[in-house]
Amino acid sequence: MKKYLILTGAGISAESGIQTFRDSGGLWANHRVEDVASPQGFQKNPKLVWNFYKERFAETLKVEPNPAHLALSKLEKALQDDFYLITQNVDGLHTRAGNKRIYEMHGRLSSAFCTGCSKRYQVSELDLDSDVPLCSKCGKILRPDVVWFEEIPYYLYEIEALLKSCDVFVILGTSGTVYPAAGFVMTAKLFGAHTIAINLSKPDNLNFIDEFYLGKCGELLPPMVDRILEEL
Ligand code: OAD
Ligand code: ZN
Repeated sequence: MKKYLILTGAGISAESGIQTFRDSGGLWANHRVEDVASPQGFQKNPKLVWNFYKERFAETLKVEPNPAHLALSKLEKALQDDFYLITQNVDGLHTRAGNKRIYEMHGRLSSAFCTGCSKRYQVSELDLDSDVPLCSKCGKILRPDVVWFEEIPYYLYEIEALLKSCDVFVILGTSGTVYPAAGFVMTAKLFGAHTIAINLSKPDNLNFIDEFYLGKCGELLPPMVDRILEEL
């Protein structure tokens, strides 16, 4: 059986009602990245950063996985260990849709950790009325468990091994501008994978994509998954 590796970005959650980053009216149109998504921004104004991520977390509680998330869950159930999912998204929608073989490389909105002792917390168990939540163990401030610019994404070793061993690499709803994720397609292709993408606009790394479909993940992915399953 062919090994499938999937990479998703904000576009796959757009049809659930989550704002993307770089589309017109996206998050980075109204917020400065260096203020809300960098270690320096957090040091300067942790309250502003927490407000931003509290809003993002609240947004995830109001939405549901869409047909694209559900199609990936169906694909994993059929392929089992021949499926793996890497996501840049922090909204938790893939897990809610039922995916288990998943690497959330940019972290998750539902979790926070202590800047002093690294103790992890579920955001749902924190007092979100306080400006900046504090650690119950050591009293230092907590930060969202989200990877910021200039920080190293999670699971890069595991991801590299998957990129080198997959047969098909499918990229869904990402602008292909943020590294290292934007470069994954090059590694996959270099090691022999067939590369496929679905996106509402042409991604920056289009040159490395063998099959490109312009459109919405929620509309194009479910029939694509059905075709893959028919060919098994
Ligand atoms: P972007 O906002 O950069 O790109 C989203 C892409 O999805 C765009 O190319 C859209 O055209 C496309 N899109 C929108 N709706 C779609 C739909 N329904 N179906 C298919 N495609 C759709 O988001 P990302 O590429 O995920 O990092 O951004 C990557 C990283 O940059 C994020 O993880 C975040 C951000 O800064 C951090 O916060 C560290
Ligand atoms: Zn602590």
